[in-house]
Amino acid sequence: MKLLMVCLGNICRSPIAEGLMKAKLKNAGLDYMVDSAGILSSHAGETPDHRAVEAGKNHGVDISTQVARKFSKSDFEKFDFIFAMDESVYEDVISLAKTEDQKNKVNVFLDFADWHETSNVPDPYYGTQSDFEDVYQLIDVASDKIVEKFMKGKF
Ligand code: 4NP
Repeated sequence: MKLLMVCLGNICRSPIAEGLMKAKLKNAGLDYMVDSAGILSSHAGETPDHRAVEAGKNHGVDISTQVARKFSKSDFEKFDFIFAMDESVYEDVISLAKTEDQKNKVNVFLDFADWHETSNVPDPYYGTQSDFEDVYQLIDVASDKIVEKFMKGKF
């Protein structure tokens, strides 16, 4: 199975989601491929925001070597599941999909995790280290739920 995590810049939320999902799937014994991408091209080629790297480091997840890239239409063919970090990103990705099959691959990350409080992982880019920590915690718990869902084949 191949999973793609998508946010706006691919330097804050989706790199954290990629790092956490990789670690959790591996721990669960699931040999999945996980990647991430952004809607914008402005940060392509960059490593994740230092505050995201710090949040990962605080919890033993190293995301420092990831490199940002822009989402490509070819990703619809390469991946089985595409997870958008918020509803706005979901709309951006859906607008690029051509077929029903492609649209069906796109999910709102928190909705897929059956998260009831909100559908949106807040964008921490203009926030503080504490906002990055909150985002990390949210993605951590939601990732557990998603891995559990894959383990049970409930999707
Ligand atoms: P991300 O955060 O989508 O979680 O990577 C952002 C990073 C950069 C920008 C916006 C959000 N930006 O506008 O440059």
